[in-house]
Amino acid sequence: MNKKIKKILNKKNKSKIVCLTAYSKNIASILDKHCDLVLVGDSLGSVLYNYKSTKEVTLKKMIDHSKSVRFGVRKSLMVVDMPYNTYRNPKEAIKNAKLVIKKTKCDAVKLEGGKKIISIVKSLVKSKIPVMGHLGILPQTEKKFTFKGKKLSERNRILKDAQLLEKAGIFSVVLECVETKLSKRITETLKIPTIGIGSSVFCDGQVLVTDDLIGLSESRFRFVKKYLNTSKLINSAVKSFKSEVSKKKFPKTKHSFKY
Ligand code: KIV
Repeated sequence: MNKKIKKILNKKNKSKIVCLTAYSKNIASILDKHCDLVLVGDSLGSVLYNYKSTKEVTLKKMIDHSKSVRFGVRKSLMVVDMPYNTYRNPKEAIKNAKLVIKKTKCDAVKLEGGKKIISIVKSLVKSKIPVMGHLGILPQTEKKFTFKGKKLSERNRILKDAQLLEKAGIFSVVLECVETKLSKRITETLKIPTIGIGSSVFCDGQVLVTDDLIGLSESRFRFVKKYLNTSKLINSAVKSFKSEVSKKKFPKTKHSFKY
């Protein structure tokens, strides 16, 4: 088994797993110093390209961004989202996941869904492709973007899905906006780690979209904590540049060349 995956598995019940998203090299190299796992999420569709849905994200886009991220990630586990309609059956999933791994040198891929994708997950695992699961809100196919686990039937289904995915061989699962008691139950039931986003402190680890965390996006989701106001910092730097250019204070002699 991949050493980095083993490290993630060994953290269960010992220490929390720290995950963030990256879409390019420079951010990825900062995250790599602090994170256990760096995810190239298909959230890049809405965050970078203003898409209404992650359904619009293509395999090519994921591969291009992941290639850039790869330059920044050395020690963390690098996981890449398989975009919508790229894993509709085992054959398609294996072909596309192998392409992603070959082109990006990522360590694993992430797929959204439970019971419906079990045969696909099994065939990927059989082909030695490490798979991360994703339950709760499933942005690629979601109709209702509200937290999951309100109804007993929904709670039973999500728990069952998590158990099926574990049995199929995934090494970890993202729980997106899963109700607190349910995410606690899933985390206690599974041997593999759960990574929460909007799914309470009881998960084995946490993930956020980095652009939200650093205040570069406009995100107002309840589960987001903004640790920095990057937009304000960039705004101030650009204003200073504009002012210095206008007043001929930049560039100085030290920024210029003479023969
Ligand atoms: O696409 C993404 O960024 C994700 C995380 C939010 C878990 O799937």
